[in-house]
Amino acid sequence: MRKIVINGQKELTGEIKISGAKNSVVALIPAAILSDDKVTLYNVPDISDTRSLIDIINLLKCESSYTDETLVIDTKNIQNTLIPESLSKKLRASYYFMGALLAKFHYAEIYFPGGCNIGSRPIDFHIKGFEKLGAKVEIEGNKYIFRAEKLKGARIYLDFASVGATINIMLAACKAEGTTYISNAAKEPEIVNIATLLNNMGARISGAGTSEIRIEGVEHLHSAVIDVIPDRIEAGTYTIIGALCGKDLKITGIIEDHIDALLSKLKEMGVEYKCTINTLTISAPKEYKPVNIRTLVFPGFPTDLGQPMCALLTQTNGVSILEETIYENRIGHIKYLQKMGAHVRQENRTSIIIGPSKLKGTEVEATDLRAGACMVTAGLIAEGTTTIDNIEHILRGYENIVEKLTNVGADIKIIDDEIDKK
Ligand code: EPU
Repeated sequence: MRKIVINGQKELTGEIKISGAKNSVVALIPAAILSDDKVTLYNVPDISDTRSLIDIINLLKCESSYTDETLVIDTKNIQNTLIPESLSKKLRASYYFMGALLAKFHYAEIYFPGGCNIGSRPIDFHIKGFEKLGAKVEIEGNKYIFRAEKLKGARIYLDFASVGATINIMLAACKAEGTTYISNAAKEPEIVNIATLLNNMGARISGAGTSEIRIEGVEHLHSAVIDVIPDRIEAGTYTIIGALCGKDLKITGIIEDHIDALLSKLKEMGVEYKCTINTLTISAPKEYKPVNIRTLVFPGFPTDLGQPMCALLTQTNGVSILEETIYENRIGHIKYLQKMGAHVRQENRTSIIIGPSKLKGTEVEATDLRAGACMVTAGLIAEGTTTIDNIEHILRGYENIVEKLTNVGADIKIIDDEIDKK
């Protein structure tokens, strides 16, 4: 078993470059199969979710090459092959093949998706959307089967501005006959990135980034290129780390607007930072004021930063409150923060954090991706050694996290228990 080991309390200085966004690339790859030709993605992060999706498109008989952060996908020989359950289960985003294969072949058989265990995570909005477009949906064992003689544009209202449902419906509707309107669509920057690729391929999508998206169906989609946007959650995580142990730590390749909600909370806490074009420079202050945070859909405070933020909130001078409104069970990090010495109480979806606490290194677990980010953050400020188990979750979403932190002065490494025992 691989583990991350951190000897904490080092000052971090230097530069961390932000990679392409996980939550964009995991939809851009399935979107690419809608093209009848080559699609090139630049700034593709080398994380295990990317590798799993490349395995899937290779299985669908697409040709692909992935070098120097550039992924080229050629769909000329694509076949609608059943993706094995073991592969679908590896990540949440395997569900984007529902919309993409349905649009391309009018038939898709997809096993239930995987992903972090942070709540029940139903996909009823996706299913209702596909049905509105004319698909028949059946469940057979652990599999969804979608069929449509043809897909027809429709008016679709989402009960909640779901990122996944917005993208999946956009994918399915791109080649439908007529026009589709998605109301109460998600507005996350990743949605804009996906719509831009689809439009570059010849789709006619307007309104992406607002709550009303209009998709006029087209018959064919062609070759295109796209840059994956910078990962705002990775940027946010390193910004939080900089607020805790940075000394003029530079975080480069960011889009400031994408992390506005976080920056405004940091300002409220008394953290100082400077932003110039695409670079944020941040240092740890002497003390932090407590704050109240509610996670919300974009442009609100992102749920994906709630867990790493909790590590920072253990250091404020007083009581901070973090209310998680998107997922009902995003709390895997709480018991390990407590084990490290934090004073945290969990009441339903609300974490009540009394600071400042001296954190002590110990053995902890990454119960999910962002819980893992919280453990890394806590380990960097803790006294002594923190050993994080189950790090595969972290490596699904943070490219070269150990190298990036080592380069700025952290004492962090990956060990392999099995090899070390031999
Ligand atoms: N929901 C439903 N029904 C649906 C779809 C969603 O009830 O059909 C509920 C979910 O259960 C959840 C809420 O709506 O409570 C939000 O779900 P959403 O569909 O917006 O999230 P997602 O598409 O499953 C993506 C990211 C998540 C990120 C959320 C919110 C990917 C692969 N995942 O998930 O990323 O938290 O949007 O921004 O893009 C992460 O990176 O750590 C992560 C979990």
